[in-house]
Amino acid sequence: MVDVDSFIDEKIDEIATEVGDENAVIALSGGVDSSTAAALAYEAIGDQLTPVYVDTGLMRKGETEQIRETFDYMDSLRIVDAKDRFLDALGGVTDPEEKRHAIGEGFIREFEREAKETDAKQLVQGTIYPDRIESEGNIKSHHNVGGLPDVVDFEGIVEPVRDLYKDEVREVARELELEEIISERMPFPGPGLAVRIIGEITPEKVEVARESCHVVEEELEEYEPWQAFAAVIGKATGVKGDNRVHGWVVAVRSVESRDGMTARAQEIDWQTLQRIQSRITGENENVARVVYDVTHKPPATIEYE
Ligand code: XMP
Repeated sequence: MVDVDSFIDEKIDEIATEVGDENAVIALSGGVDSSTAAALAYEAIGDQLTPVYVDTGLMRKGETEQIRETFDYMDSLRIVDAKDRFLDALGGVTDPEEKRHAIGEGFIREFEREAKETDAKQLVQGTIYPDRIESEGNIKSHHNVGGLPDVVDFEGIVEPVRDLYKDEVREVARELELEEIISERMPFPGPGLAVRIIGEITPEKVEVARESCHVVEEELEEYEPWQAFAAVIGKATGVKGDNRVHGWVVAVRSVESRDGMTARAQEIDWQTLQRIQSRITGENENVARVVYDVTHKPPATIEYE
């Protein structure tokens, strides 16, 4: 991207041309990528646009309420409660790629339903450059790229930030005067907490992942990580009170990166790690153990699945 202002002008023109006088839905997740795509599309086509936020039940703590507040100014915002549908679709699924596909398909079906109701023929997405590269190289299928089902009931898919890296998207977001809470937001994957849970997704594991992620984000704020979170990675033996338990193992991850393609595990001081451990095991009855992930990317990925 050469110049932010011209980029914005060009994209607004492009979106207006691509969408024409049809209606569009925007897949809004509240992250910086989709919010920036949404803001550009709103500038371009105004009322022809319906931003759709799908609550998959795999969101961060308080995320849905926050979206409601932040995008309150967009009258046509629709918040879809799809928690049960996603949980059903993920029941019994343990393979990471199958999970991504189930989620990708779930998203598309939700949007199709919303699109039908608003007579929208175009789907806007916040896909960015690294999403495409990693999907094309089969490193993983992003729910919004490789995970798309074969039959998609839209005439066109518009991806205004598809050639940008995350830091460039942030520049555009700042220029568009999106709130800081959005423009500086830590990346959160489209499949949400599902890629922070190894094996089958169950309501209990989702709750442990959500609460633990919240603790990690709070406790590591001062380290300004590129991304920090917790994941539920298995079960192990522990002692709680007077009893031996077989509880969840929660991994804490905090990384520095430019674009997510490579990353370095952050050095965190012992007291902070202990505070995180004590909060996570204290606040979640069934967590027996907390570990810190010291692996860079490569060889590890940032997320766990
Ligand atoms: P990995 O785990 O592949 O992640 O090292 C690199 C960056 O991409 C995010 N990520 C995703 N984002 N859909 C997304 O929208 C996905 O399926 C997905 N998987 C990973 C991850 O959070 C990190 O920022």
